Amino acid sequence: MVEPIKFTTREERADLLKRAHFNVFQIASENVIIDLLTDSGTTAMSSEQWAGMLRGDEAYAGAKSWYRFRTVLESLTGMPHILPTHQGRASERILFELIGGPTKVIPNNNHFDTTRANIEHTGAKAVDLVIAEGRDPRSQHPFKGNLDPRKLEQLIAEVGAGQIPVCMITVTNNSNGGQPVSLENLKQVKAICAKSKIPLFLDACRFAENAYMIKQREPGQNKRSVSDIVREMFDIADGATISAKKDGLVNIGGVLLMRDNELAEKANNLLILTEGFVTYGGLAGRDLEAMAQGFTEVLDEDYLRYRLRSVQYLGEHLLKAGIQIVEPPGGHAIYIDAQDFCSHIPREQFPGQALVCALYHHAGIRAVEIGSVMHGGGEEKPSAPAMELVRLAIPRRVYTQSHIDYVIEATIEVFSQRDELCGLKIVEAPKALRHFTAKFEEIRSTKEKD
Ligand code: F0G
Repeated sequence: MVEPIKFTTREERADLLKRAHFNVFQIASENVIIDLLTDSGTTAMSSEQWAGMLRGDEAYAGAKSWYRFRTVLESLTGMPHILPTHQGRASERILFELIGGPTKVIPNNNHFDTTRANIEHTGAKAVDLVIAEGRDPRSQHPFKGNLDPRKLEQLIAEVGAGQIPVCMITVTNNSNGGQPVSLENLKQVKAICAKSKIPLFLDACRFAENAYMIKQREPGQNKRSVSDIVREMFDIADGATISAKKDGLVNIGGVLLMRDNELAEKANNLLILTEGFVTYGGLAGRDLEAMAQGFTEVLDEDYLRYRLRSVQYLGEHLLKAGIQIVEPPGGHAIYIDAQDFCSHIPREQFPGQALVCALYHHAGIRAVEIGSVMHGGGEEKPSAPAMELVRLAIPRRVYTQSHIDYVIEATIEVFSQRDELCGLKIVEAPKALRHFTAKFEEIRSTKEKD
């Protein structure tokens, strides 16, 4: 698909920002020049996917498209129970409604915001157990998404295995720099879980990018095919939630996978209640076709090489200009260390949000804050997260190198004027998932003081 890019002026963007209460989720996408808000659902689909869309079988039950989708997912993951959902959080909602609840504790390397919110919605507690290196933007550890096995053992000893209905691992670790998880770590965590009879589920939105980084970075893996590594990742797990809007290469869709027959029966009942019949689950037949094709294409190693390399290219140029990012670059995005970028803005004044606003104002680039706005503060989460990050997420198969060069130049220009950025305060916010709708005001005094 080819889409027009509308150019706005700085003055127009200043006005748009003010009208959006300094929250870029509230800005119409036609007023965005380069949209790096998310890599989710923003993929350009291939000719084969579009062809599949036309072949979509829209029968209510047992459609051809369902069987094709199931065959692809079976061979990809080996999981016996495959439930289609309309997106990742629908899979999360079904899973945690069944196994969550007050007094339960659910660990992860780092929970994504919707995962955490779905867990907390049931009254359970979501705990992040990423390794210490994962909290240090400068650490060169190759698998900064790894879950710390000792912290997991400690948690089990503290709260008791009976209170932990599942252990999750997010591959790649989106809330913490898009960093990969190693096969070795998955096996270690699985062994600990198995001892305590705790099932291990993957949050597997970006499984192919994770597998490609295993191939590149983990000793002894570089001769294996990505599809082999993907299969081993799923073989270690007892189930998975997947948002197909990432490595499924589609604009909408999700999957819930599990081995346990009893849990699957309950999940199917919930699926029918709120998503749709088990052979379409909240999607059209054509969406299942696009997913089946996307989950196949994403294993193409030429595509993955190009994908990972282009993200790295952005990261390398920012680093060269002195902009601290989460190193080494992960799979789907570059995460700028906003606390380092805006060192004059205290955390309570949201340096990440200040940088997001500055990138939009200066160049019409839309990024997203992953820091105290998204993961900290509020009545429920008074403590701040480990890092104040700004994510530049790269949509799949959309932007060319010249778009990325524009992003590099603009970010470096903002960096050279960083002292002019001013902090923000929240003037209105909902209790959960506040980053989508929170309203901000600029704190002019920060700017004046500097
Ligand atoms: N888990 C992870 C790790 C995610 O990154 C996301 C979505 C979800 C679950 C939920 O999936 O959106 O299909 O319901 N991440 C998007 C992002 C929104 O921008 O990172 P969903």
